[in-house]
Amino acid sequence: MNYPISRLVQVFLCILLLPTVAYTQHVEWDEIAPGIWKGIVGVPEEFDLLVASGATLRLEGLKKMEKSDFPFNTEEIAASVEGGKTFLRFPLAIQEQIYGFGLQFKTVHQRGQILQLHVDHYGGRDDGRTHAPVPFYVSSNGYGVFVNSARYIDVYAGSAVRKNSKNAPRALDRNTDKNWTSRPYSDAVEMLIPAPGIEVYVFAGPTPLDAVRRFNLFNGGGPIPPRWGLGFTQRVHKLYTAEEVLQEASDFEEKGYPLDFIGLEPGWQSKSYPNTFVWDAGRFPKPKEFIRELKEKGVRINLWINPYPSPESPIYKPILPYTSSHTVWAGVVPDFTLDTAQRVFWGHFEKEHLDIGVSGYKIDEVDGFDRYLWPDVAQFPSGISAEQMRQTYGLLVQRQSDSLYRKRNERTYGLVRASNAGATSFPYVIYNDYYNHEDFITALINSGFSGLLWTPEARASQTGEEWLRRMQTVVFSPMAMVNAWSSGTKPWSFEEVAEEVRQLALLRMRMMPYWYSEFAKYHFEGTPPFRAMDLEEGFHTGGEQRSTLADDEVDLEVNPYAEAVKKEVKDQYMAGEYLLIAPIFTGQTSRQVILPLGNWYDFYTGLYVGNGEVITIVPELGLTPVFVKDGGVIPMMEPRLHAPAKGESVNLEIRHYGEKPAVYQLYDDDGESFDYELGHYSWREIRVEYQKNGELKGSISKAEKGKPNSVGNVVWRFMTVKNYGEN
Ligand code: GAL
Repeated sequence: MNYPISRLVQVFLCILLLPTVAYTQHVEWDEIAPGIWKGIVGVPEEFDLLVASGATLRLEGLKKMEKSDFPFNTEEIAASVEGGKTFLRFPLAIQEQIYGFGLQFKTVHQRGQILQLHVDHYGGRDDGRTHAPVPFYVSSNGYGVFVNSARYIDVYAGSAVRKNSKNAPRALDRNTDKNWTSRPYSDAVEMLIPAPGIEVYVFAGPTPLDAVRRFNLFNGGGPIPPRWGLGFTQRVHKLYTAEEVLQEASDFEEKGYPLDFIGLEPGWQSKSYPNTFVWDAGRFPKPKEFIRELKEKGVRINLWINPYPSPESPIYKPILPYTSSHTVWAGVVPDFTLDTAQRVFWGHFEKEHLDIGVSGYKIDEVDGFDRYLWPDVAQFPSGISAEQMRQTYGLLVQRQSDSLYRKRNERTYGLVRASNAGATSFPYVIYNDYYNHEDFITALINSGFSGLLWTPEARASQTGEEWLRRMQTVVFSPMAMVNAWSSGTKPWSFEEVAEEVRQLALLRMRMMPYWYSEFAKYHFEGTPPFRAMDLEEGFHTGGEQRSTLADDEVDLEVNPYAEAVKKEVKDQYMAGEYLLIAPIFTGQTSRQVILPLGNWYDFYTGLYVGNGEVITIVPELGLTPVFVKDGGVIPMMEPRLHAPAKGESVNLEIRHYGEKPAVYQLYDDDGESFDYELGHYSWREIRVEYQKNGELKGSISKAEKGKPNSVGNVVWRFMTVKNYGEN
């Protein structure tokens, strides 16, 4: 595509159309898929988030969802193009809360926030500059809105007040009126997009989780990682040699810690920052043999990169004409929208890495900071602006590296530091350099609103307690990772908690059948495997007194629940269909947990813990507090050190919690290839029912003929209802 010429046409069109589109107040909404509407304002740019990501609808999943009406009164949506910029306004109702806008670290409730969505390394403030500033929000009233633009978008998320607002705040006297507030009530989300037009999409519910599901399916559904991707991963010190890496793999094995892949940091290359992308002959004299030897130990290799070739890289010269005007650490910046740049760059990776068995990448520094990334004045040969490139570079590298693996019919699972809307289907998990444990959990919660995956990686710790607390959340996240690139920390480095950490890592492995099925639901149904309590049914309505008392009458002594659910809840989250995780942070000896309506049970004992209330728990040091919904089914396997390989079968222990009978869909496929896209997968139905004698009995549907089957023997454990003679 020749961007400069099409640009000219666009500008011309804009000049022609401007007088007519300015002050437009009405947007036409076209239902493009069940419960998803597209509106066009002005003249959208050719290059946007969906073009960059290439996201395609997962229509089958959407068709299975309930039909739903357009969630707004169309008259209340306002849009216009003025001075080459697009203005948008969507209404908000009193009491409505909104969530999303990507990977925020401190806030879950976005109403009242002012953000400039701008891809950047997170700098400690939720101002929109973050690794994945996704222009999508979801409402507690059960709908979502997505602006498909690769520009820096200003968002007033319920913080700007129009004089003609239906619910305009009254002028109050600050001198005397205690109701005066510096943040008056706003009834709209308003956005300013520096582009002469945009595509905007509206997603129906009816619940907020349904709106998130539709958004995810619209973007292709979540990835199904290879099974090994859900195992344990250690990133080793940046200057490790092949010998040291092999020794590390042996240490894991000997000490009984699981390990599925090892990440090599910048020192695998002859030079880094800028990078040669060539193996260092001293540290890795025989990369092919090294990778083979490691694979024989059941361990794969993931390579760190940032995508800026050094003048000493063999790809420097051929890629030079296809790079930006500015450099990053004296490396060049490939224009990844151009075919030739893609061919030169990824072609080298294919030959030098994939062909010798590299299983994935960690793609670093595609986000910021400004002080080293290309500036907004940079120019790219395609004519795509530096700003658009900044907003989409993470998408481009995810898409292009994933496609290398797709071509080989091999799944990958890697890491990336920048992303945006359209990335839902990419097998990449976001991480960063910031290191606040509490905020890492908020990020994990927020990732689930925006079609993203996040890892609260453990890097180093002051104390054994901190190490253990961090590891406790690592194992309940999309990627169970220690990133020791600088610290050299091992899972067993803190002797006093080494055994607890080992047990946690083994628990991660035991739960693999559950994690795998929950990721398959992300793929086929759009349900995020890790998500906020706000998306959980019964969360906002629990607490017995809530329905009978007005807000100001609630006695918090009697019912702290009512207050608790109104506050931001950013220290507990849902993992898969049934589990509620309540992390403990260093120094805490007890904590409160807000349980949604319905009976909840302790994961370890099966004992009843509460229903629609706030409980206080005093956890043991070694255990992450985890609670299971009534009727919860958790399929587990034996504690192994490596994920099951293609064709291997594993024995299952299927646990049932609570008193309700249950039905659970267990997903199965070969665990490594894309054959599932051709129908080579199965859902096995697990049922737990009461028999005439009052005992529970479990059953699992037969494996389908000709479909992959990894299930060996099955034993049942009824964690709450004790059956006579239970095995
Ligand atoms: C950082 C990255 C770290 C580590 C390091 C290596 O930018 O966030 O995880 O990979 O680079 O230089």
